[in-house]
Amino acid sequence: MPKKPSTKAKLLSPRDWERAARAKLSRVAYDYFRSGADAERAMKRNVRAYQRWVVWYRVLVDVATRDLGTTVLGHPVAMPILIAPMAYQKLAHPEGELGAARAAAAVGTIYIASTLATTTLEDIAAATPAVKLFQLYVHKDREFTRELILRAKQAGYSGLVVTVDAPVLGRRLRDERNGFALPPGMTAANLASDSALAATEGSALASYVDDRHDASFSWKDLEWLRSLSELPVVLKGIVRVDDARRAVGHGIDGIIVSNHGGRQLDAAPATLDALPGIARAVGDDCEVYVDGGIRSGSDVFKALALGARAVLVGRPVLWALALEGEASVAELLRGMAEDLSRTMALVGTPTLADIRRDMLTPES
Ligand SMILES: Cc1cc2nc3c(=O)[nH]c(=O)nc-3n(C[C@H](O)[C@H](O)[C@H](O)COP(=O)(O)O)c2cc1C
Repeated sequence: MPKKPSTKAKLLSPRDWERAARAKLSRVAYDYFRSGADAERAMKRNVRAYQRWVVWYRVLVDVATRDLGTTVLGHPVAMPILIAPMAYQKLAHPEGELGAARAAAAVGTIYIASTLATTTLEDIAAATPAVKLFQLYVHKDREFTRELILRAKQAGYSGLVVTVDAPVLGRRLRDERNGFALPPGMTAANLASDSALAATEGSALASYVDDRHDASFSWKDLEWLRSLSELPVVLKGIVRVDDARRAVGHGIDGIIVSNHGGRQLDAAPATLDALPGIARAVGDDCEVYVDGGIRSGSDVFKALALGARAVLVGRPVLWALALEGEASVAELLRGMAEDLSRTMALVGTPTLADIRRDMLTPES
């Protein structure tokens, strides 16, 4: 008997996931998730940067078993692939943040909860006993910021990811055109008053950030922030070597080389181009991560070779979440890990420690 063809379309490439999600999402939600700032050059630059490197593989290495495990801020993870903090995950699927956090736990990795989640940080924390980090936007209302940090500590988060590339919001034209706002019944659940996120002319998110985020927050305020809890602090959004060195000088525990997935400064460099200099400059003084444009296991391999300890994945997780919630996010992450494992076998690097800088050269 011939096998019945599967009714579920096979999702083999990153584009397959995005296409399938697009068919399910409202136009406003799809546009919000996919958008970059302005002409979306930084967003595309991030992806393109991965295509410019070739990998000089080794042969006759015993790669019969591969180990993708590492640690993040001292916590073991089964794969060097974390879920980037992203706002408003219920826009993708009713399970929202809970689905994505459970998927991370199911595959043995770390979920980073956004300040702008549509589920409270306490409910996300309670969804699984796995290690999680909390992403913080510093608000003008310092008391509110302090409360967020204390709530995160109380709820059991293992560290703070402080986003430093968004003193104001980048201009996302699609959101402005769509008058982007959360639909009725959905709220930014961690915020006391959600009124600023109601529909306005243009993007409600842009108005909220301008009204509430503290654009004056600077290096000198880091001491204050660190004094509020003993939680490790990771700065997200650094692309310069001098900023990375300064972060180390302030006793920061980790850096995420990031340009917010190209959603902030459209002229920003590709994060992969910023990574090697930063990794070299900080050495073992703090952990270095990267995000932006990572779509395959081979991309993860390249990021690790260029100095990242692990990577964060953004939009692909939202595309997966939009399909079948937790189950699809777990499938996506497992697929990326398998892809990385296959790449490691083909390159002759059975463990992450075997991945070296000199295996990569720019394509000529
Ligand atoms: C829809 C969306 C919402 C995001 N929300 C946040 C956020 O709340 N806080 C934050 O630090 N970064 C946020 N980011 C940026 C991501 O954490 C990450 O830096 C970026 O998505 C990585 O690029 P990628 O999408 O190409 O993988 C968001 C990104 C997207 C696509």
